[in-house]
Amino acid sequence: MYNIKAIEVKPSITLELSSKAKKLKSEGKEIIDLTVGEPNFKTPDYIIKGAFEGIEKGFTKYTPTSGILELKAEIVKKLKSFNKLDYDISNILISTGAKQCLFNAIYSIVNEDDEVIIPSPYWVSYTEMVRLAGGKSIIVETSKKNDFKIRTKDLDENLTNKSKVLILNNPNNPTGSVYTKSELVEIGNWAVRNNIIIIADEIYERLTYDNEHVSIASLSEEIKNKTITISGFSKTYAMTGWRLGYCVANKDIIKIMNAIQSHTTACANSIAQYAGYVALRDESKYYDTKNMIDEFNKRRKKSVDYISKNSNLNINFPKGAFYIFINISPLKGKSISGKILNSSIDISETLLEEFNLAVVPGIGFGNDDYIRISYAADEKLIIDGIKRIIQLEKSVQ
Ligand SMILES: Cc1ncc(COP(=O)(O)O)c(C=O)c1O
Repeated sequence: MYNIKAIEVKPSITLELSSKAKKLKSEGKEIIDLTVGEPNFKTPDYIIKGAFEGIEKGFTKYTPTSGILELKAEIVKKLKSFNKLDYDISNILISTGAKQCLFNAIYSIVNEDDEVIIPSPYWVSYTEMVRLAGGKSIIVETSKKNDFKIRTKDLDENLTNKSKVLILNNPNNPTGSVYTKSELVEIGNWAVRNNIIIIADEIYERLTYDNEHVSIASLSEEIKNKTITISGFSKTYAMTGWRLGYCVANKDIIKIMNAIQSHTTACANSIAQYAGYVALRDESKYYDTKNMIDEFNKRRKKSVDYISKNSNLNINFPKGAFYIFINISPLKGKSISGKILNSSIDISETLLEEFNLAVVPGIGFGNDDYIRISYAADEKLIIDGIKRIIQLEKSVQ
């Protein structure tokens, strides 16, 4: 009766758990919510004022599907200075969040049965978008030994005559891994050699703590021709609810994505677009992303330090984004209050029900041996949350 592909789509486990935590909170439970990837900062004031400026200037109507010129021009400048990418405004499509960019990109390229290589652990939505497009996700495991990063050897082993796309999320959600320039050169050249399109999800590009971010498309003209780079405003400017993202690619792909978007949502919200324009235009005057990065870095170090000093659970040391991927496999098979913990879902449910802590089970990212916490929350809450995980660790038998 319903669309077969659609009924197979699983809802986003991150959003589902965060809603559950919010509901319990509204019922009066003191829940600590470390599920969602959302900075706990307020959207900077100059951007909020920018939205009002946009309304007053009349940016309250449909805009061209691909976005307003003002914003595109600022994105061109930012791509040059930050990403070392040379594009012009015809290479840009502005969408309702990076999420829509990803959907547009996958839907534009993937035919029935095309294979999309997705390194695991992966962000929850990739596989479901590939499913909707009729493609096949080829999940390629990475290991902690390699900092959860894909190598060309792994890619070679999974290459078939149906391989079409590689989705590369750098910095990575959920592992916090960040690829080096030389690793990206190898992956980029592999894609060129094998005629694979790279969807580079770089939404966390500003959040690297140890090394500078490198955009894979900046590494050669050949790699650039094969890459769709996606970013947005949610994480950098604490603008998750404004829903504003963009992608850059060659004009042919942008044209197709633009056509798809014109029939789904049309343009991104006009006021959000104007606010995004002001975010970039006035950044040097009013906003220092360094402060935000320093703050997240402080939380990262404290959390990692606390876990390593007080717990036997292993983590993947995060180098970017704002997540910690915690290995809970030593807890599997153990029991608490008569319940056996068999999976990352059992452990997450127990943390929520018995310890009032919301985390995301690793199975949502393709790895059942882990749970993910976000350190985009308030520092005290993060440490209290970690204490609750340690309490569980000490309570199981
Ligand atoms: C890896 C990754 N890509 C894309 C997105 C979507 O970002 P947006 O809020 O811009 O849609 C997220 C959001 O959590 C993410 O973690």
